[in-house]
Amino acid sequence: MVALWRLRSYLRPYLWRLIGMLAAACASVATALVIPLLTKALIDGALSTGDRSLLLPIGLAATGLGIAQAALNFTRRWVQARAVTGMEQAMRRDIYAHLQRLEVGFHDEWQTGQLLSRATTDLSAIRRFAGFGTVFLITNAVTFVAVVALLIHLNWWLGLITGAVFLPVGVVCHRFERRYRVLTRRAQDQQGDLATYVEESATGIAVLKALGRRAQAQARHGAQTSLVYQTQIEKARLRGSFWAMLDLIPNAVIGLIVLLGAIATSQHALTLGGLVAFITLTLELVWPIEAMGYILASGQEAATAAQRVYEILDTTPAVVSRPATINPASASMARGPVTEEPGHGPPRGSWPWGPAARPRDGEVLRRGGTVRFDKVEFRYPGTERPVLRGVSLDLEPGQTLALTGATGSGKTTLLQLVPRLADPTAGSITVNRTDIRDLPLPVLRTLVGCGFEDPTLFSVSVRENVTFGAPNATDEQIEQALAVAHAGFVARLPWGLDTRIGEQGMALSGGQRQRLALARAILAKPPVLVLDDPLSALDVRTEEKVTAALRDALAGTTALLVAHRPSTVLLADRVALLAGGRIVATGTHAELLATEPRYVELMGDVAAAGEHDDAERAVAR
Ligand SMILES: Nc1ncnc2c1ncn2[C@@H]1O[C@H](COP(=O)(O)OP(=O)(O)OP(=O)(O)O)[C@@H](O)[C@H]1O
Ligand SMILES: [Mg+2]
Repeated sequence: MVALWRLRSYLRPYLWRLIGMLAAACASVATALVIPLLTKALIDGALSTGDRSLLLPIGLAATGLGIAQAALNFTRRWVQARAVTGMEQAMRRDIYAHLQRLEVGFHDEWQTGQLLSRATTDLSAIRRFAGFGTVFLITNAVTFVAVVALLIHLNWWLGLITGAVFLPVGVVCHRFERRYRVLTRRAQDQQGDLATYVEESATGIAVLKALGRRAQAQARHGAQTSLVYQTQIEKARLRGSFWAMLDLIPNAVIGLIVLLGAIATSQHALTLGGLVAFITLTLELVWPIEAMGYILASGQEAATAAQRVYEILDTTPAVVSRPATINPASASMARGPVTEEPGHGPPRGSWPWGPAARPRDGEVLRRGGTVRFDKVEFRYPGTERPVLRGVSLDLEPGQTLALTGATGSGKTTLLQLVPRLADPTAGSITVNRTDIRDLPLPVLRTLVGCGFEDPTLFSVSVRENVTFGAPNATDEQIEQALAVAHAGFVARLPWGLDTRIGEQGMALSGGQRQRLALARAILAKPPVLVLDDPLSALDVRTEEKVTAALRDALAGTTALLVAHRPSTVLLADRVALLAGGRIVATGTHAELLATEPRYVELMGDVAAAGEHDDAERAVAR
């Protein structure tokens, strides 16, 4: 319940609405409770004395109260819908923003389905309770107190007995809540697991089909759904027996009231009209008590949902800008000779420190910044051995360094440290002599452009995908970047640059996606560029053309690129070989071939394959 209470800040903007909503709800309860008292006045007054003149006013008053109740209920629902929907929207926004802030490591650790279910179904559970549960919880409590007070007023001992008989309801509710909490949490977690499984099967559908795993996938899905089913049935059984108790108690009480009321009336302790009012008022308690079942169940669901949501919101992002980093001096120093061409990088006014850091004209060709790794160590959370140990590297402005190493040697890991997708566990990385942790993250991410191993594209147009890092780029600049990446296929797409590509770029081939991702990385013309094996999916001839174009495009940019093939390595001024988590050799391609057996071994087979490709090409020609 602590988690639910924490959500109150989301309702604060709607405080007056909520007060209005509660006032409407309480007024509606009051109108409902006045009607039995009018009945009493009718029976004891108009009917027993024969004074017909009271009939019309009482009838009109009862009708008026009925209409007022309907109007009040409408007002409550209308006000409530706006408040809770607004609250849900604000929570959605905060969860999404927080998920964006959390580092890649968090997303690696958490299952997508769990995040999805928390951001969707859990929020709906909270909204349902905030909208209906809380209002009825309060109005039902008010109804209960008001009815018991009225009953005591009509006949004190009968009223007290009636109030006391309802006490077991409290005990039943308490026992139910304890057991229901466990089941609700289990059900929500299982639904998250199921969502993860469905998501994984949808994205991996080709592998499932190709390897003939449909039956097994179906069976695993079946097993997951039956877990959800069992928990839901268990929940329904518990809810069912609880609700039955809540049905039983008030109805049994009514029987008792009729009996005791008849005795009281026969002893003239209660008038006939009083007895009718007493029974009608007791009947008014039936619905609030029955509704407690629904309210407590939805309250419990909302409480565990809020707990699950706060498990995300309470996770502190590990990669953040240091508080003292918004320092114009250090930022402009780090930015060094950053250049901005029209349409490249962020709009000039968007720098938090204003135009002071604006690059001077003529620096277009001196885009590079220095990058320095100083005894960098990196260990993935929850693992024993560091992937990188004591890595030291120096990149001069405009230099291109190729990083090679066997598969799994930590190349991608090393590259990801530059844009701070993760932070080193020891050592430091500097760009233009400034520790990257001292740079505001938006500045760092503008300084460092990235092309990843897995060329993720979004389901928007080609243009939007390519201009992700440079939203102001002109068509001409886009064309240039596409030309470097040898992505001429874009012109042949049905709507050219405006063609919308499918989810994760599925409508394109692997090599096409990789070329678009490369165009995206180079379009922003960042001072520092890290590229993770950018040409791996290209055929040898296309690779050759892209390499040549890239060599020109990279002039002036400090580039760190992972390369497996000798042809890509040739793009670089220097090569560094990563083995056993350390940089074991650096030098030119020729030097390493001459002096480093591990490099020869790594490149040897590929070089042989390259020769084979050359031979094949010759035959094709
Ligand atoms: N999220 C992670 N959690 C734990 N260990 C990881 C994680 N990602 C990678 N690793 C481990 O870190 C090591 C280096 O992985 P990395 O992806 O950096 O290798 P790589 O050199 O890029 O390989 P490749 O050439 O195949 O792309 C591997 O042993 C891998 O198992
Ligand atoms: Mg890799």
